[in-house]
Amino acid sequence: MVIELQTDWIGKTVSFYDSIDSTNAQAKKDAENGAENGALIVADMQTAGRGRRGRTWESPAGANIYFSLVLKPDFSPDKASMLTLVMALAVARGMEKVTAGISNGRVDSAETTGIDGKTATVPIPEIKWPNDIVMNGRKVCGILTEMSVQQGRIQHVIIGVGINVHKQEFAPELVDKATALDAECGQELSRSELIAETAKAFEEYYAVFERDGSLAGLRTIYNQKLVNRGREVRVLDPRGEYTGIATGINDAGELCVTLPDGSMAQVYAGEVSVRGIYGYV
Ligand code: BTN
Repeated sequence: MVIELQTDWIGKTVSFYDSIDSTNAQAKKDAENGAENGALIVADMQTAGRGRRGRTWESPAGANIYFSLVLKPDFSPDKASMLTLVMALAVARGMEKVTAGISNGRVDSAETTGIDGKTATVPIPEIKWPNDIVMNGRKVCGILTEMSVQQGRIQHVIIGVGINVHKQEFAPELVDKATALDAECGQELSRSELIAETAKAFEEYYAVFERDGSLAGLRTIYNQKLVNRGREVRVLDPRGEYTGIATGINDAGELCVTLPDGSMAQVYAGEVSVRGIYGYV
């Protein structure tokens, strides 16, 4: 795979693997062995792809994007979880860019004419807090951020991105929850172009994040893409589940939820189900 990057610092080193256990695991090894900030690890398939919360990430060959970005930032570890949201924004932007050719730059569900004259739809990539990208209510991308800290300082942060690109058969338990970009857009899209656009967008958003030391400058655009916004969410808090209406993220990337009694909860981490997304009804 040839990736034509238009970046300043991401991908000065790109390591491409036909098959690997996990790009995140490899990125961690590389980071420990001196890989520089911005190193990219990309694979065509993974034999032990990792998802969030110890889940596995199905990673067949030839169909999807699996990459990990090595970061060696200078800020404090408590800010690192926000990087996942920065990457979610970048992936959404990358998707908008690669689908723009078939939608004349529009990012709503415009109907256009696809390759063979069939109607192609261009759905909007939306973010399900904190870091899933969904199209038409189904997941097309997951992000797994892992960090190594020593004596209170970040050694490295690995941001791993898995994007379902080409049409494929999903495992029975995923059929109703997952989809692929091609299937949603009615047109085959280029994996390398999407990686390049995502990397470019990440650099732009990361610069804003670094400048502010928070998501203050990205909050508005993130909230515009937030599928949870204005919708009922169920927060699976280990201390007790509750429901409320999500209003958006704050500068720290927490999800703000208005509770039935009018008070506001700020959800730092954990599972949030959104009514109508992945089957929460
Ligand atoms: C999720 O559970 O939603 C996160 C999935 C993250 C998958 C990606 S694929 C590339 C990178 N390598 C991994 O092993 N996982 C991440």
